[in-house]
Amino acid sequence: MSIKEIKKLGKDKCKKNFDKLIEMYNDDNCSAIEKREIVSSIGRQNDIDRIYNFIKANMFKRNYMDVVYQMFRTTLVYYKDERFKELCEQMKKYYKNEVMDKMYEYKLSPKFDCKRLHDSSIDKPMILFGDSSKTLKTIADGDINLIFTSPPYYNAREYSDYINYKKYLDELRKVFLECNRILQDGRFLIVDVSPVITKRPGREYASIRYPIHFDLHNILLETGFYFVDEIIWEKPEPSVPNRIGGYVQTKNPLSYKPNCVTESIMVYRKNCNFLLDENIKKYTLKDDYVPNDEHVDRSNVWKICPVSSKKHPAVFPDELCRRILKYYSFKGDVVLDPFAGIGTFGKIAYQMGRIPVMCEINEKYVSVMKGEKIYDVISTSSNR
Ligand SMILES: C[S@@+](CC[C@H](N)C(=O)[O-])C[C@H]1O[C@@H](n2cnc3c(N)ncnc32)[C@H](O)[C@@H]1O
Repeated sequence: MSIKEIKKLGKDKCKKNFDKLIEMYNDDNCSAIEKREIVSSIGRQNDIDRIYNFIKANMFKRNYMDVVYQMFRTTLVYYKDERFKELCEQMKKYYKNEVMDKMYEYKLSPKFDCKRLHDSSIDKPMILFGDSSKTLKTIADGDINLIFTSPPYYNAREYSDYINYKKYLDELRKVFLECNRILQDGRFLIVDVSPVITKRPGREYASIRYPIHFDLHNILLETGFYFVDEIIWEKPEPSVPNRIGGYVQTKNPLSYKPNCVTESIMVYRKNCNFLLDENIKKYTLKDDYVPNDEHVDRSNVWKICPVSSKKHPAVFPDELCRRILKYYSFKGDVVLDPFAGIGTFGKIAYQMGRIPVMCEINEKYVSVMKGEKIYDVISTSSNR
C-alpha cells in the first residue's frame, strides 16, 4: 500500500480502517517508512483506548527508531490523559534518547511568543576599544542580533602572541562566552577560520599545523551554541600560498601538501527552546517588512576572491560580509564583530542598514575604523 493510501486510512476514522492499519503493521513485509506512517495514522483514529493499547503493546518491541519516535509523538499528543502520560514517561526513561528528549522539551514547554524577543537598546554604531572578553561586558544580555568574526591567528601574524595553543583557545572561549550572553536567543554566531601553521625556527624542526575549526567546534558547543552549517569560502588557487611545489618536483608519496584554497565559515545558532520561525516572525509580522532580493547563493561553496590591505594583514572581502549580512540578519539589526580588525564587517553592515558594534584591541586598527566616520560612540575599556 502506498504512503498516500496509508495517510487516507488515517484521515477516515473508523473501526474498519483501524483494523486494516493494525493488520498492515503486523505484516512482516512492512517497511520502516510504511510502519512509521501506519503508527501516525493509528494515532489519528478516534478510539483512544485502542490507540493506548496499541502503543503499550508495541512501544518496547525492537523497531526502527523512526517508528518508536512516532509512537512517542502520539503519547505526547495525548499527554494530558494520565495513561498516555505514563507511557510517555516510561518510553523516555527506557530509550534515554536525545531526539526524544528534544521532542519532549518542545512539545511540553510553554509556547514561545516572538514578542518576548526584545528590541536592542543599542541604536548607534559603536567601537569598543580593548580586549573584547572585557569590553563586551558593557553590552546588555540579548542586545546583539548577529555576530560574525574571524578570530586572531594563533601566533601566525604580527598581532597575536599566545604562550601556547591551549591558552589561545582559552582566550577565545572567554570571548565566545560573552558573545553567547549578548546574542539574542536563537540568533547566529558565524566564525571564519582556517587551519594555521606556526613558523618553524629552522629547517631541522617540524612546523605545526593547528586545525582551529575542530577545536572551536567544541568551544562553541560548550559556550551555548549548536552547529547549523559549514560554508566553504573558496579562493582562486593563484591567490593562496604555494605548498604543492615540493611534491610537484619530487612526486614522492608523503610529501604531498595541497594548496589550501578554502576557509571554513562555521555557522552556529544560540541555544534556545524555540524554532527559528519565531526569530523570523519578529520581522515578517511588521507592515513594512521586505524580504531579500531574488539572487540566491544556492550551495555552501562560496567562490570569493580574497583581498589584501596595506592597513591590516587579514581583512574580510566586502562580498563575504555582504552575504553573511544578507542571509543572517535583517535591516535595522545590531551586528557585532568581536575581533574587528579595521572593521570591514562594520563598514558593509552600515551600508546595508545595520548597526555595527566593533571590538578591537589594537589602537592602530581602531584609528582606521574611526576614520570611516560611521561610529558615534567609542568606548575604551580601562583594563586593556
Ligand atoms: C583576523 S583579524 C580581523 C580582521 C577583520 N576581519 C577585518 O576585516 O579587518 C583579528 C583581529 O582581532 C584583534 N584582536 C585580537 N585579540 C583581541 C581581543 N582580545 N579583543 C579584541 N580584538 C582582538 C586583532 O588585533 C586583529 O585585528
